[in-house]
Amino acid sequence: MKNSKSADSLNDFEKYFDSIKSLLLQRFNFNIPKAFVKTYGCQQNVYDSEKIKGLLHKMGCNFVQTCEEADIIVFNTCAVRKNAEDRVFGNVGALKTLKKKNPQMIIALCGCMTEQEHIVNKIKETFPFVDLVFGTNYIRRFPDFIYEFLTHEKHLFKTKIDDDLLCEGLPIKRENKFKAFLPIMYGCDNFCSYCIVPYVRGREKSRASIAILNEFSQLVERGYKDITLLGQNVNSYGKHLDEDINFAQLLKRLDSIPGDYWIRFMTSHPKDATRDLIDVMAEGEHICHHLHLPVQSGSNRILNLMNRRYTREKYLEIVYYLKEKIPDISITSDIIVGFPGETYDDFCETLSLVKEVEFSSIFTFIYSKREGTPAAEMEDSIPYEEKSAWFKELLELQNSLTGKICKRHIGKIVKVLVEGRSTNKKSLTARTQGNIIVDLSGSNELIGKFVKVKITDVQGCFLKGELI
Ligand code: SAH
Ligand code: SF4
Ligand code: F3S
Repeated sequence: MKNSKSADSLNDFEKYFDSIKSLLLQRFNFNIPKAFVKTYGCQQNVYDSEKIKGLLHKMGCNFVQTCEEADIIVFNTCAVRKNAEDRVFGNVGALKTLKKKNPQMIIALCGCMTEQEHIVNKIKETFPFVDLVFGTNYIRRFPDFIYEFLTHEKHLFKTKIDDDLLCEGLPIKRENKFKAFLPIMYGCDNFCSYCIVPYVRGREKSRASIAILNEFSQLVERGYKDITLLGQNVNSYGKHLDEDINFAQLLKRLDSIPGDYWIRFMTSHPKDATRDLIDVMAEGEHICHHLHLPVQSGSNRILNLMNRRYTREKYLEIVYYLKEKIPDISITSDIIVGFPGETYDDFCETLSLVKEVEFSSIFTFIYSKREGTPAAEMEDSIPYEEKSAWFKELLELQNSLTGKICKRHIGKIVKVLVEGRSTNKKSLTARTQGNIIVDLSGSNELIGKFVKVKITDVQGCFLKGELI
């Protein structure tokens, strides 16, 4: 794993993992080491954690569900908002007592937080019991770091994005047997003024289409039913590749692979959402009639300050084209409330846009200041309490709209994917291609399968259905 050449010989590769395996066994008194990986943040991190688990599995580890049982703990962190970071710090602090009880324990932090210098400094000062810190582009080198730590027993800090490398072919341990994430690109070039992601994930890099097609085909062959293509802005897929391909073309190629499955993708940046893409969605056989299209704000003044590079009018134009071409489209979005300089009048424009579009659901966030971003330098005079009141107003509006949209489904027969038992264990939960949850009765054998249901009722933001 030192560099791509080491993969020239599969033998060397296996021997390398065998040597880590035996070092780990020695460290833990010849008991199989137990690993726990905790994921914070978005789907990209969920996928990265599956790679980390794939590597740990190859290093001979078994997996446990809690920190208390673990010998190796990995926290894969998120930096997008302050509360995400606070949660990580709280949970890392709690590991101190566990490490005292089990001094051989290895504690690693990775993911987006670790790409920020002030965070690395804080880890060094406040949590000296953390053994290993590695950045978002270093997952492929995780086994090397473990090897180095086991042979030198000194703390390692390996961050700072290396922009050139994309790593294919790492082992992966997928948690779900019928739903999968598949990154088609990494990083982000957009620099929305509030957002830390471009600083912690580096520049946009697309995977070669052949690598995506192969991974996708394997998932379909293995019976995966719901595959989500991932990227911070999937619409700019292909921009920096030697091959001549864009996202709409990639989607069309994937959709032509035969099988019984759904394709989703996220996230689409409105500035790059093309009519071609919508046409491919409308004509596709497997592409879900669902588009996550984060608008962030309904005010042109705020969109401009956010550096989103589209207007309210351009956004609505896409929405109307979508609704014309795909009448049953389900549109979801992300909205930030209380961006620096936002007034109540600006916020009312967001409310009016939400009413006009009729999103099936939205993810709403109160603006969180991120050190190093342009928005962190902007004047932000609205008190948090006032922003919270706006936030509540937006949620109430959306809840009433979600109820209204859900009611339109009553009496319809829809295809759903059964995902598991509901929390009260009494019913099954399933999902429509529009990403709406449906509650229904049935046996566990249906989990992971597509079924047809008749929608009978609405309960809050969920639908109730009966198998037919
Ligand atoms: N690449 C995706 C979003 C990634 S982050 C996109 O462009 O849509 C997910 C969401 O977190 C964003 O859409 C935004 O609504 C929210 N977000 C990002 N930075 C934030 C911040 N500083 N404060 C509050 N919300 C933020
Ligand atoms: Fe952040 Fe904007 Fe990039 Fe999304 S597109 S990750 S919001 S900078
Ligand atoms: Fe968080 Fe990083 Fe995703 S900051 S939202 S885990 S890209």
